[in-house]
Amino acid sequence: MKVHGRAANLCGSVALAGDKSMSHRALLHAALSPARSTLRNVLRAGVTAAMIGCLQRLGVSIEQAGAELHVQGGAWQPVPDALHCGNSGTTLRLMLGAIASQPLRATLSGTPGLQRRPMQRLADPLRLMGAQIDNDFAPLTVSGGALRGIDYAIPVASAQVKAALLLAALHASGPTTLREPGPSRDHSERMLRALGVDVRSEENVVTLYPLSAALPASQVTLPADMSAAAFMLAVAVLVPGSSIQMQGVGINPTRTGFLETLQEMGADIRITNQRVEGGEPVADLEAHHSALRAVEIGGVRVVRMIDEFPIFAVLATQAAGRTVVRDAAELRLKESDRITVLAGELRQLGVALTEHADGFELHGPQAIQPAAVASHGDHRLAMSLAIAGLLAPGTTTVHGADAVDESFPGFGAVLQQLGAAVEVDPA
Ligand code: S3P
Repeated sequence: MKVHGRAANLCGSVALAGDKSMSHRALLHAALSPARSTLRNVLRAGVTAAMIGCLQRLGVSIEQAGAELHVQGGAWQPVPDALHCGNSGTTLRLMLGAIASQPLRATLSGTPGLQRRPMQRLADPLRLMGAQIDNDFAPLTVSGGALRGIDYAIPVASAQVKAALLLAALHASGPTTLREPGPSRDHSERMLRALGVDVRSEENVVTLYPLSAALPASQVTLPADMSAAAFMLAVAVLVPGSSIQMQGVGINPTRTGFLETLQEMGADIRITNQRVEGGEPVADLEAHHSALRAVEIGGVRVVRMIDEFPIFAVLATQAAGRTVVRDAAELRLKESDRITVLAGELRQLGVALTEHADGFELHGPQAIQPAAVASHGDHRLAMSLAIAGLLAPGTTTVHGADAVDESFPGFGAVLQQLGAAVEVDPA
């Protein structure tokens, strides 16, 4: 992707796809039900293609009908060779938890990038529940079956680990209690509760009582993805003269750390028409170009904006004062090392910043220089670097920008529609 910089006046309304985390969960919950589910506004992107592909190989029928997906699940069938989870950590971890509770043996694999990401944080508690898992990195083989409930303190605040354990716990022989060090996203709890599952949550502790009957069908419409909205909010705030609106965006409090951070930085963000849809709070968002001041981020805020640090770093380059991020070592374990790799690519754009083991800091505002940068296969890094390029006086090339298709297909076209001079690589 090539971005011709010094953009101005990017204005319009952006229609976003459904939430990535909720799409994965909705697909899995529907796939575990023997009844026919109807899912609306499911994200169709690389990560969910991986999930859908795995489920279809397990015998689940998934059909697109207009804007709806019809899912007919039930008993999963054995698969002779590995299930490929692409580059999607959520697919691999949630599939691992779900398969652990089935009388099945399956191998889960993925891209070299996914094979580097840690699975022990999930394999350990699944082993305590009685599953057999032969490795702590993909490819790994799981032999599932009769599991027992556990009372377990998850060492890192990870919604993927929590969601996977809740899926395993659905068929365990007793209740499962999970204790988290911080408030990770709670979509699984809300969605399972809406299906009648007995899931109780209090202060980072969740207890699930196993199913006494099959999981019923899901009939859900998913809100737009806050983590995709974050990029559009950033474009509006960063580019002079801009103003962008989005409707029906999920504002679940476990996901709004970035919104709150933007507001603390002085960004003009308007949150209107707040309502609850399908058990999730949603709202319309509108952002305008704003002068920004630097903030310090640490503690529980980090997990509530865990996917937004690449774009936050770009915003920080334009904020007056010292930006500090701490308590965010988890960023090193995402689709790329979102501290070292992010810092390296921002330096290519002329940004001076200091890396910490658990974060980074920089003084702003700083000028962005046009350059050739690389996504390292990380969709959020690709989008963040492209947005940084909008601020540079010249042309910025983002190599490997096709990674955006993992979570936000059409990202380049959306920028073009807003009026940015962006060239998208041919497919
Ligand atoms: C997700 C949880 C987070 C997040 C990821 C999606 C989920 O990962 O980064 O994009 O859907 O549960 P961790 O659980 O590894 O923090």
